[in-house]
Parts: sequence; C-alpha cells; structure tokens
Amino acid sequence: MINKISIIGAGNVGATCAQRIADRGYADIVLVDIIEGLPQGKALDILESAPILSSDTRIIGTNSYQETANSDVVVITSGLTRKPDMSRDELLQANMNIVTEVTRNVVNYSPNCIIIMVTNPLDAMTHLAIHVSQFPRNRVFGLSGVLDTTRFRSFIAAELDVSVEDVFACVLGQHGEAMVIIPRLSTVCGVPITKLLPQETINKLVERTIRGGAEIVGLLKTGSAFYAPSAAVAQMVEAIILDKKQILPCATYLDGEYGIKDTVITVPVKLGRNGIEQIIELELTAKEKSALINSAKAVQQLVKTMKL
Ligand code: APR
Repeated sequence: MINKISIIGAGNVGATCAQRIADRGYADIVLVDIIEGLPQGKALDILESAPILSSDTRIIGTNSYQETANSDVVVITSGLTRKPDMSRDELLQANMNIVTEVTRNVVNYSPNCIIIMVTNPLDAMTHLAIHVSQFPRNRVFGLSGVLDTTRFRSFIAAELDVSVEDVFACVLGQHGEAMVIIPRLSTVCGVPITKLLPQETINKLVERTIRGGAEIVGLLKTGSAFYAPSAAVAQMVEAIILDKKQILPCATYLDGEYGIKDTVITVPVKLGRNGIEQIIELELTAKEKSALINSAKAVQQLVKTMKL
C-alpha cells in the first residue's frame, strides 16, 4: 500500500487506534511496543479480521523501530496512564523519558513523517516531541481537541435529543483543567447552544467535558479512556492521509497566533497531507481571549518544569 502508519504503544489507545485505521483499509500499519509479543499478537489478531472487514491493510507488530522506516504518519501513545489519584501533571515526569526515547527512534527511521502525540500530559508531551525531533510545527501536533470536542458534542446531542452529526463544538486551550470551551461558537445546525439550552445546563456540560477523562478513569479504576481517544486519532490520521483539508482542533505550537508564543495549546487547524496546513484564528471576545491566555500559562508552567 502507498501509505504507511506506525503506532508506538500497543496498549488500549494504540491497539484500538490500529484497529480503527486497519478497518478503513487505506494504509499499512506497524504497531510497536516494548513488551515482547504484545504488538505482534494484537497485530495478528487485527490482520485476521481483515477479510471480514474487506480491508487489504497489512499490519505487523514489532519491538523494534526498523520496520517503521519511512512512515507517513507516526502516532505516539506509549507511556503511563493516569491513575485515579494522579493529575495529568504528575504524569509528566513519568512520561517524559519514554516520549524522548520514542521520538528519537521515530525520527531516526522516518525523518519526513508527521507525528501525532497522544501521550499525556498532552500539550507538554507535544512540546517535548517538537523539541526532540526538531521537526517544523506543521509535522508535530497533538490529539486533544478532537477528543474534547467529541465529548462535548456527545453531551450536547444527548441533552437536546438531536443527532450527533448536527452538533459542532468549539474547544480550545489546554487538554485538562484549563481547557477553554466556547459555547457561543458551539452550534446545532448553525444555532449557538446558548440559544438552545439554559446557562446552568451549559455549565454542567462544560464541566463534564473538562472532567471527561477523569470521569472515565474513576469508573474504570485501572486504565483510562481509549474508545473516544482512538476514534479521534483515526479522524486526524484520515484527514492527513486522504488530504482532506479538514478543520480540526489540534494541540498546536503557537508562534504569535492568538497573541501566544512558544506554547502548545489546542486551536482549530486545517489538516491535510502536509500536516497542519493553516492555523485558524477565531475572533474571540476579550473574556475568551484572556481565558485562552491563562490556559496557555498553565501549559507554560508545566513545560518549564521539563527544563528543555
Ligand atoms: N516504547 C514503546 N512502548 C512503550 C514504552 C516505550 N518506551 N513505554 C511504555 N510503552 C507501552 C506500554 O508497554 C503499553 O503497552 O505503551 C503502552 C501504553 O498502553 P496502556 O497502558 O494501555 O495506555 P493507553 O490507555 O493506551 O494510554 C496511552 O495515551 O491517553 C493517553 O494518558 C494516556 O498517556 C497515556 C497514553
């Protein structure tokens, strides 16, 4: 096949992501993990489902990076997940070493690839991968926005009893407590939800979205969300591989856009074959803008602790 995608980390997010992409059949996949047998076993299992799904994807699992050579897109999911009593920020130190090592290996074998970061704390890990890879910012960005908007969209659709397809949501900023959700720009068939729902209900949905990851961690007890995250990654991969020019919210390195410099936060971008092809600058109110700047400050503090 002409397209090649590597997924590093064959755990819940990585393997489910591999499955979702394999089902669509437009790229070959290499699944990598440090645990011997794990990526090989999961890849074989996915491969054996291909005839039923009419997918000609070739998928292999491996413990080395040689097989990832010349990937078009590399998705990094390797790392620890958040425990119920652990904040995203506490994950930082634990995942820093893993992401550094993985990024070096990825770059070594695929110097022209596009990297999609999934490992948390997302914004900081994306910043780290940009630093380690030395890739331009259009080729290294992170998942979060597509995940946070799909969560908000699903809550809005359930509340209003409408199809999820009719709901658009606007989420910016940090992937975590300092996320900035803009109800004014979140719509059902073009109508802002501020005209469809009482403020109190909107506040509840916003709060639930901000705590979306923690709600699932609390329920699962071990591990964290992976169905929605893997669906979000698959959508990003598809936008790139099929050159869709789709506008999706991604964790993006800002260099002056929105008045923010040297910081990775979520903003809407156009995704196509070259990765981020345009950063979309929304017109924000003064209040929204200051919330975004505060959100960026939360990320900056975390990044500072990495001493890059
Ligand atoms: N190289 C390759 N794989 C690694 C490495 C490494 N250096 N270190 C850990 N891994 C692998 C683990 O062996 C494990 O299989 O990463 C995988 C992580 O899988 P899970 O523990 O199932 O975690 P998952 O739910 O997939 O989440 C992964 O995504 O959403 C974020 O917060 C989440 O940071 C976490 C990441």
